[in-house]
Amino acid sequence: MSATIISGKAIADEIRKEIADSVNEVKQKINKVPGIAVILVGEDPASQVYVRMKGQACEKVGIASFEYKLSKKTTEEELCNLIDKLNNQEEVNGILVQLPLPPQINEDNILNRIDPEKDVDGFHPVNVGKLVTGQDTFFPCTPYGVQEMLIRSGYSPSGKNVVIVGRSNIVGKPIAMILVQKNDRANATVTICHSRTKNLKEVTKNADILIAAIGQPEFIKADMVSENAVVIDVGTNRIDDPSNEKGYKLVGDVAFDEVKEKVKAITPSPGGVGPMTITMLLYNTLKAFKKKEGLN
Ligand code: GUN
Repeated sequence: MSATIISGKAIADEIRKEIADSVNEVKQKINKVPGIAVILVGEDPASQVYVRMKGQACEKVGIASFEYKLSKKTTEEELCNLIDKLNNQEEVNGILVQLPLPPQINEDNILNRIDPEKDVDGFHPVNVGKLVTGQDTFFPCTPYGVQEMLIRSGYSPSGKNVVIVGRSNIVGKPIAMILVQKNDRANATVTICHSRTKNLKEVTKNADILIAAIGQPEFIKADMVSENAVVIDVGTNRIDDPSNEKGYKLVGDVAFDEVKEKVKAITPSPGGVGPMTITMLLYNTLKAFKKKEGLN
């Protein structure tokens, strides 16, 4: 039997509606709206697409978005100066620096420069520390989206074996930290796997919930999953496709066509986790705004 397809798009639409209503309600009350600054350095094509989508998503829910497109030759000092300015700007509640950055800029120095109260990506070490210790913070958007999608689609992680393939600071590590927490939205038993994991297939077959975040096209095959698994595909990879007018197509980290024939439920990619990531960014921006304005 073919798997249930978890539509990230439908869940994302539902949350965006909630966010739009909340933005509207606050606007009536205090005549202000949340604002986010999005900084793109260079011309990475995938990053350009994400930044454009973020801008459009903000507009739809009534969040103001301020875009900064900087040349690929921008120095670390110039970028730090812009962040300092945005840290002090009233109408900016969230600051997002699109990663990756060009090689002349040290990523850690940039992430450390953002005011933790405006760090809607949840990448600042203060916020990472709060996440690990279970304090209130901004959860990184993709991991947060995965958690929300699991809960809203009826696949609560509580008490489940969650296996994460991938250990990045943006996805693998924070998902583990979110889902291992002691609360009703988490309570999972978490395993993180990576390129050096021995007998990877044996570990992934043990997963009730398998999260693929390795950045390798169609890496997870049917023989790596169990029949009861819920599979969340975080990957979006461009692969050559001469039959497509763009010359490429997007595929996930999971071999969707074969895995969907075996497992209980699966997210597509594109159309799964992607829309959730941007949605949780909107959510975090609203949260930063409400906190600053002293609203619940
Ligand atoms: N690059 C890939 N994913 C992300 C993300 O969630 N935030 C930022 N800032 N850059 C990214």
